Amino acid sequence: MNFRIAVIPGDGIGPEIVTEAMKVLDRVGAVYGHTFTYKKLLMGGASIDVHGVPLTEETLAEAKNSDSVLLGAVGGNVGNSRWYDGAPETRPEAGLLGIRKGLELFANIRPAWLYKELADACPLKKEIVGDGFDMVIMRELTGGLYFGERHTRVENGVRRATDTLVYDENEIRRIAVKAFEIAGKRSGKLISVDKANVLDSSRLWRAVVDETAKEYPDVAVSHMLVDNCAMQLVLNPGQFDVVLTENMFGDILSDEASEITGSIGMLPSASLGETKLGLYEPSHGSAPDIAGKDIANPIATILSAAMMLRYSFDLDEEADAVEAAVQMVLTEGFRTGDIYSEGCRKVGTREMGGLIADRIHR
Ligand code: NAI
Ligand code: MG
Repeated sequence: MNFRIAVIPGDGIGPEIVTEAMKVLDRVGAVYGHTFTYKKLLMGGASIDVHGVPLTEETLAEAKNSDSVLLGAVGGNVGNSRWYDGAPETRPEAGLLGIRKGLELFANIRPAWLYKELADACPLKKEIVGDGFDMVIMRELTGGLYFGERHTRVENGVRRATDTLVYDENEIRRIAVKAFEIAGKRSGKLISVDKANVLDSSRLWRAVVDETAKEYPDVAVSHMLVDNCAMQLVLNPGQFDVVLTENMFGDILSDEASEITGSIGMLPSASLGETKLGLYEPSHGSAPDIAGKDIANPIATILSAAMMLRYSFDLDEEADAVEAAVQMVLTEGFRTGDIYSEGCRKVGTREMGGLIADRIHR
């Protein structure tokens, strides 16, 4: 089969890690008889440098016209005032919000699991981690505070700023349906996280999740307040399987969940909508502190490409092969600097990508 992939390297370490993911995809293509064609697009700081804006209509149109989008990272050098002066809308990360919205991607899926080879990197005590954890956080992406009306003004000499948290029932229902579907394929356990003791939008969230639950009798759903969830993640992470939550809560909780794995360079993500077209990117940012040095860990991006094979292209066997290849290099003791420990073999970005590609077999 032939698949057209829009590739947005972004800035910082983005171009380096995306190159390794394409190396792995090409190997998958050679082994399984698929063709992946890539169209490189500018976004974030790289787009500001050329076009003056973080996301152009052309990039969005090309992305829409592809079978799927692979993204490195955007953010770049915070010291680059050319990228950072002015309103949030003109910053590199605005490209990310814009493309998620433009492609109507409303469900951000971020797995957080602990590899036993990397258990020493986990900042939690061994007795808390127990047999490890394997959870998926599903964050609503297109509503809530990040897209509500906002303004700043001066009233009677006092500066006042407003942000608005808005959800309608359709926005909640469509991601709830996806969460129940994914929970049904995993352990059948779904925890919906909100702040229903304070917020109206959370009370609506809870009601719509409960209504949706009636269609999925095999999934056990429970509700948890967001502040409690933040505590439970570090007290007993093993209790979570699928976690469903709104935009800002999900932003914070998914970062917390990724940190307790101890290896943010390992964690992929997918953003999905109603169609097969998805956006796949590592959970980490553009890591400007290590850009261009061939030391970034490409595994999060490679595993994001595996999620693309699974969710957008329905190539489950191929996705399994990529994940198995990652497991193999870890078992063999290869590590990039961020996950290095004594007795392992330290490799750079390119070497890690090559090692994983070499281990993809039928
Ligand atoms: P970051 O994730 O870029 O970096 C945090 C720390 O982790 C740094 O020390 C970095 O060197 C390290 N790190 C991250 N990815 C790594 C990898 N693959 N291999 C080895 N080490 C890695 O987060 P930070 O520093 O808060 O943000 C940097 C820029 O990235 C900012 O402009 C931020 O807005 C942007 N950002 C973009 C995201 C995206 O594109 N989705 C997500 C998060 C941040
Ligand atoms: Mg975040």
